[in-house]
Amino acid sequence: MQNLLSSQDLSHDEVLRLLELAEAFLPTVTGRGRLNLAQGKILATLFYEPSTRTRFSFETAMLRLGGHVISNADMGSTSSAKKGETLFDTGKMVSSYADVIAMRHPEKGSVAELSKGSSVPVVNAGDGAGDHPTQGLLDLLTIKMEKGRLENLTIGMVGDLKNGRVPHAQCAYLSHFAGLRFVFVAPDALRMPVEIVNMLKAKGHEVVETEDLGSVIGEMDVICHTRIQQERFESEAEYLKYKGVYVLNGALMAKAKSDAILLHPLPRVDEIALEVDSDPRAKYFVQPTYGVAMRMAILATLLGL
Ligand code: NCD
Repeated sequence: MQNLLSSQDLSHDEVLRLLELAEAFLPTVTGRGRLNLAQGKILATLFYEPSTRTRFSFETAMLRLGGHVISNADMGSTSSAKKGETLFDTGKMVSSYADVIAMRHPEKGSVAELSKGSSVPVVNAGDGAGDHPTQGLLDLLTIKMEKGRLENLTIGMVGDLKNGRVPHAQCAYLSHFAGLRFVFVAPDALRMPVEIVNMLKAKGHEVVETEDLGSVIGEMDVICHTRIQQERFESEAEYLKYKGVYVLNGALMAKAKSDAILLHPLPRVDEIALEVDSDPRAKYFVQPTYGVAMRMAILATLLGL
């Protein structure tokens, strides 16, 4: 693995290998330990778009591997991008300081563009509505650890499936596993892109699409909820049409399977009621722990440690 730019770049075996490695790193994360695998190595985090979890998660992962971090959380306004530097040149420059780069940007394809200039591995930490390959992997690890398997499951995805880069990445990885049934719940205008639906069907998976969460939540083993992606809409008025369409509350959770798990990449706006936080099926506050372990696995692999 040279870079991690897209969730489609990884083979089934590479996904399994990352899951295995992440599982091995979990005790270091839960025990708040520090290894010395990445001694002397530097991670640069270049964020052109807001982030709480993803940037801290990458940086924590690098520190727990024993490496170091240089970071710019506001590349759009404080880097030379402001003076017109191209992503290609930025990639060239940053790779003379750091050994690996994690980058987030509002435009699809931008991380790949920077990687062309970079001589060190580059990880996509989210490019617009495109892809979020490391979040998809940490969600896979969460499902594996919390359900005990990645096969023979009904996977529900709820929310803005058109603009959500997280559900796109989840589908790419899950498509490798057998016996999955996908239930997509979205307003008609925010449906899962047809290429993704067709890709899943071509790999033999059943796909059901609906707008009505209440009628299908009881079928789901895994409920992957997501935020309506406000920043991808053309206007506030357009966003307001969909804000609050799927609010998961106690009454809806009462219809879900007793052993279902509920995932959300966060941030949540209004789509999960606070009363759900104490439901043992809610896993969104443990996902970040899996996220650090998975990013340790990704960084260790890219750095060839
Ligand atoms: C997601 C993202 O940035 O795509 N958040 C995250 O990385 N944890 C989801 C979102 O913003 O809705």
